[in-house]
Amino acid sequence: MAEPKRRSRYFCQVSSGEQFSHTEMTYAKVGLLAFVLATLILLAGPQQADAAHAPVKAGAKNAYATMLYMGTPRDYEFYVAARVMLQSLAKLKVNADLVVIASSAVPMKWRRNFLKDGVRLVIVEDIQNPYRHQPKFDMRFMFTLNKIYAWTLTDYERVVMLDVDNLFLQKTDELFTCGQFCAAFINPCIFHTGLFVLEPSNETFNSMLYDIQNGRENKDGADQGFLTGHFSDLLDRPMFHPPGNGTKLNGIYRLPLGYQMDASYYYLKLKWSVPCGPNSVVTFPSVPMLKPWYWWSYPVLPLGLSWHEQRRHTIGYGSEIPLMAAEALFYIITMIVAMIVRQRVLTTDRAPLLKSCLGRGPCSLESGSMVQPFLLKAAAFLAIVTSFVIPFIIVPTTAHPLIGWALWLLGSQSLLIVTINIFHLPVLPVITPWLGFFGVLLVMAAPIYINGIVRALAIFGYAFLASPFLWWMLTQVSASIDLAFAREPLMAYANLRKKEMIEEW
Ligand SMILES: *[C@@H]1O[C@H](CO)[C@@H](O)[C@H](O)[C@H]1NC(C)=O
Ligand SMILES: *[C@@H]1O[C@H](CO)[C@@H](O)[C@H](O)[C@H]1NC(C)=O
Repeated sequence: MAEPKRRSRYFCQVSSGEQFSHTEMTYAKVGLLAFVLATLILLAGPQQADAAHAPVKAGAKNAYATMLYMGTPRDYEFYVAARVMLQSLAKLKVNADLVVIASSAVPMKWRRNFLKDGVRLVIVEDIQNPYRHQPKFDMRFMFTLNKIYAWTLTDYERVVMLDVDNLFLQKTDELFTCGQFCAAFINPCIFHTGLFVLEPSNETFNSMLYDIQNGRENKDGADQGFLTGHFSDLLDRPMFHPPGNGTKLNGIYRLPLGYQMDASYYYLKLKWSVPCGPNSVVTFPSVPMLKPWYWWSYPVLPLGLSWHEQRRHTIGYGSEIPLMAAEALFYIITMIVAMIVRQRVLTTDRAPLLKSCLGRGPCSLESGSMVQPFLLKAAAFLAIVTSFVIPFIIVPTTAHPLIGWALWLLGSQSLLIVTINIFHLPVLPVITPWLGFFGVLLVMAAPIYINGIVRALAIFGYAFLASPFLWWMLTQVSASIDLAFAREPLMAYANLRKKEMIEEW
C-alpha cells in the first residue's frame, strides 16, 4: 500500500503548488472580465447617444468628399473609417456637404448607413485600371482612379477630396477658398493625394479620363501617380494663404504641411510641432497593416487611440459588440470548464488527458503506440503559439484597442489553460509569454516618455530583459515533457504492481 500513498503525496504537492497560481489566475480572470464588461458598456453608450445624430444640411456650396469601392480585403475597414471621418467632420460643424463617391458594388446596407449619417451618396461605375498589369502594381489600388470622379461634383464650387485615413483635429473650411487644385507635399518632391482641394469641372474630368484610357505613364498605377503626373508643376506653385475676406482664389497652390501631418513625424517626438501652419489634419500614409482603425495598431503606434476616440464619439462600436461579447463568453466558459477538468485530474488519482503510453515501459509495449518526445514537444509548442494566434485573428479588426487587447489576453489565457491540461504542462512557464506580452503592452502604452526614441529604447530594453524568461519557458516546457517520458515506466510499473496486488488480494 506504500506505492499509492507516495503517489498521492506527489499529486498533493503539485496541486498545492498549482493551487496558488490558480488563485492568482482567478484574480487575473475576474479582473479581465470586469475590464471587458466595463469597457463594453462604456463603448455601447455613445452608440445610443449618437443614434439621433442630425444629418448635415444639404445643398451647401462646398463639399468634403471621399470615395469607397469594393474588391480589396479591407473594404469593411475602409467603410468604417469613411463613416468615422465624415461624422467627425459633421461634429466639427463644417459648413459643407459630406459626400461619398461610392462604387456601384458598395452594399445597400452600407449605403443606407451613410444616408442615415446625413451623407450624400454619388454612385459611380468603377474606372477600369489600365495599369493593373504593370510590374509592382498593388491590387489594393485597383479602383483608386475613381478618385477623379471628384471633378464631376459640379454642384459645388470647391471640393476637398479625402482619403479615409485622415484625422481632423479642427475644422478646415478655409480650404474652400483655395484654387483649382491645391495639395500638400509630405514628401519633398511628390505631393500627397490623401487630401486635396479642387474645383469640379467636367472638362478636367473628361481630359483625365482620356489620359487614363490611353494609359498615360503612371509610376504606381494609382491615383497618386496619376495626379502627380497631371499636376506635375505643383512644387513651383505659391503657398496657399487663406484670403481674409473669404473670396475664392484662382490658380494652383501648395498647401501647408499642417493640413497633412504625417503620423510618422509624431512618433519621433510624441508631439506635434509644425510651427508654420495650422495643425489641422493627421494622415497615416505608411504601413497599411498599422492603419489607426486596427485594434492592434495601438499601443504600437500611440495615435491609434486618437482615431478610436473619434470612432467612440461618432459611430460607436455597436456593430462589433455582439461578436466580441460572444467571444468573451466563449473564452470564459472554456476557461471554467478547463479549470474544472484540471481540478478533477489533480484531486483524483486519474491520469492527465493525454495520457499514458508516452514512451517506454510495459504499457507502451502493451498498446504498441510510441509517441516520440520530440513530436510531443513540437505539438505542445505549436499549441502554445496557436493559443496566441487564434484569439488574435478572431477579434474584429476595427475593435477598440483596449477591448481588442483585453479580449486577446482573455482568449489566449483560456486556450493556454486548455493546452496546459492537454499536455499536462507546468502552469507558470506556459503563462510566462502571456505575462511578457501583457508587460510589453504596458511598456508601450506608458505615458511617460519624453520622445519616441526613448520609448523605442524602453521597448527594446524590455524585450532584452524579457527574452531570458522566454528561454526559461522553453526549457521548462521541454523538461516537463522529458520528465513525463522518464516517469512513464515508473508509473506503468506502479500500475502493474497495483494490478498484481489486486490480483494477489
Ligand atoms: C457636368 O456633367 C454632368 C453629367 O454629364 C452634368 O449633369 C452637369 O450639369 C455638368 N456640369 C456642368 C457645369 O456642365
Ligand atoms: C479679397 O482679398 C484678396 C487678397 O487677399 C484680394 O485680391 C481681393 O480683391 C479681395 N476681394 C474683395 C472682394 O475684397
